[in-house]
Amino acid sequence: MKLGVNIDHIAVLREARRINDPDPLEALGILRSAGADQVTIHLREDRRHINDEDAKRIVQISRLPVNLECSTDSRIIDIVCALKPHRATLVPEKREEVTTEGGLDIFTYEERIAAAIENLHAHEIEVSLFIDPDLETISRSDALGVEWIELHTGRYANIFAMLYSGLQNTPHSIKEFELPRHTLVTELNDSLSTLSVAAEHAASMGLKVAAGHGLNYQNVKEVAKIEAIEELNIGQSIIARSIFTGLEKAIVQMKELLR
Ligand code: PXP
Repeated sequence: MKLGVNIDHIAVLREARRINDPDPLEALGILRSAGADQVTIHLREDRRHINDEDAKRIVQISRLPVNLECSTDSRIIDIVCALKPHRATLVPEKREEVTTEGGLDIFTYEERIAAAIENLHAHEIEVSLFIDPDLETISRSDALGVEWIELHTGRYANIFAMLYSGLQNTPHSIKEFELPRHTLVTELNDSLSTLSVAAEHAASMGLKVAAGHGLNYQNVKEVAKIEAIEELNIGQSIIARSIFTGLEKAIVQMKELLR
């Protein structure tokens, strides 16, 4: 199971002070020596963390493949085409959201997504679509000619948090829902099998399958067991742990769980 480490949160810390420290670029060597397989960054429209200069330097300098997450906005796509990362992952983006809350709505925005894919492919950049684990959405993604899909693991992660982590890891947005334990267990199993069925469906169509969102040291093992998933992209939990252990150890520990 490959690991893409999302380093946006290093830039979040920097932007808290609007200075040059910590520099996300410094993470690249550590990612490599710790055994990460990919650097993942998100160039958001509001540039709240990774900015154009970061993205440019990371793509230029990284010896690991760079997976650049971005919206389908044509101005952003033009920037990504000029940067030429190894892969572009198209994600839905809302300005007011704290993080990417759901998968792309391919049915409503198909034209815009198809245009972004065409432009990226013309620049020899492989494309991934960040989508919910839904069979129809996967089939439509395949029809759009992308190489990868990334399955949104948010539902699984949220249920896991409600069941096992108490309030500690539970997103604020869902804290008010108190479901009985047996309901949560059923929901958790359902969310895992939905991911598994979706991954197998995609792989059987020849798509490469990644997954991510809300994965952490407690919940990652069950997702890592799904054979059709080749890669996980993980940010928040690794960077959070790195504050206490250092980045290298945080990545090594995650890699061990993936094995
Ligand atoms: N994959 C995608 C497409 C994302 O948008 C994000 C969040 O930026 C992640 C993975 C990583 O999510 P998390 O930070 O919750 O691990």
